[in-house]
Amino acid sequence: MIDPFGRMVDYLRISVTDRCDFRCVYCMSEDMSFLPKKELLTIEELERVSGAFINLGVKKLRFTGGEPLVRKNIMKLFNGLTPYLESGQLREMTLTTNGSQLEKYSQQLADAGMRRINVSLDTLNKDKFAAITRWGKLDQVLEGLQAAKKAGLKIKINTVALRGVNDDELHTLVSWCGDEGFDITFIEVMPMGDIGNENRVDQYLPLTEVRTILGEHWTLNESDHKTGGPARYVEVKETGGKIGFITPMTHNFCESCNRVRMTCTGTLYLCLGQDDAMDLRAPLRSSDDNGPLEQAIFKAIARKPKGHDFIIDREAAPSVARHMSVTGG
Ligand code: GTP
Ligand code: 5AD
Ligand code: SF4
Repeated sequence: MIDPFGRMVDYLRISVTDRCDFRCVYCMSEDMSFLPKKELLTIEELERVSGAFINLGVKKLRFTGGEPLVRKNIMKLFNGLTPYLESGQLREMTLTTNGSQLEKYSQQLADAGMRRINVSLDTLNKDKFAAITRWGKLDQVLEGLQAAKKAGLKIKINTVALRGVNDDELHTLVSWCGDEGFDITFIEVMPMGDIGNENRVDQYLPLTEVRTILGEHWTLNESDHKTGGPARYVEVKETGGKIGFITPMTHNFCESCNRVRMTCTGTLYLCLGQDDAMDLRAPLRSSDDNGPLEQAIFKAIARKPKGHDFIIDREAAPSVARHMSVTGG
């Protein structure tokens, strides 16, 4: 699948639920309303769409949410897709999770063929963790991480850089990740969805600043490490670990975008920062044959926009109205 700007699309992110057991302050407001269950694609339908995308050239499949591991019978989906990994048709199947359910699921994920997962964690301080996630418990995530490690999963920590919240913990996080054998990626907060009384202008901490602060303490060597995601990496000489930077605000990476994302209702978004989308649920349900679905996918890829126009401004409404949890990033 090649888009109008010559970019090959081989990375599909599927949000399997918009629900989450946390309420992170930069992601959701506390009183969110979620989709009625009957709107969702079934596990069987999710498997069928995944298969169709793989046949059209998707090599990397990442499941997101909300929190993907709160979706009922989720292992059935992952297990159903394992044969694509075994045949080599799919290079990677993975997950972005808040870590709350990892104690229960890590071994099953590894058994299904997952090799590495990304876990969101913005702080190692219990009180701050509770304040950022509103509903989360740090200990539960830390135990989940140990279970994932034990199951042999490689772990990358995703940390949203938040001014006045975790900017005093940057070295601690890098050092802890080094000790645990985790990589870490810092992310700039993005203006997606209404977050109630919170304001992203106050939250936003450019990663140019983060990098300067880290450089004062650690030896950072440029790395050509690539995962197929948007991060650019450096290696930390002292720990041997990697630090990734995801900079949608300070350095747009859209020119190398290789991904599309589908929501749990079967809506395909062509860009995280744009509203244009294509419904795949109707063509999926219209026939047992994948023809109409494939046609809809091609039509959508032909509409993939050049990139996002995120701005964070006190006066401006969020650049896109939907929350990150609709598409899982
Ligand atoms: P790797 O496979 O480890 O590279 O993961 P990834 O970075 O592709 O996925 P992950 O789910 O860990 O996403 C990390 C952050 O990157 C999330 O906050 C996503 O919202 C953000 N992200 C992923 N793709 C895009 C994109 O196309 N545009 C923007 N602006 N952000 C993105
Ligand atoms: N801006 C940046 N990152 C966000 N995430 C959720 N909402 C936002 C936002 N508005 C992050 C989560 C998780 C990843 C999928 O997206 O912390 O790591
Ligand atoms: Fe849930 Fe992730 Fe959003 Fe936090 S960032 S509320 S863990 S979906």
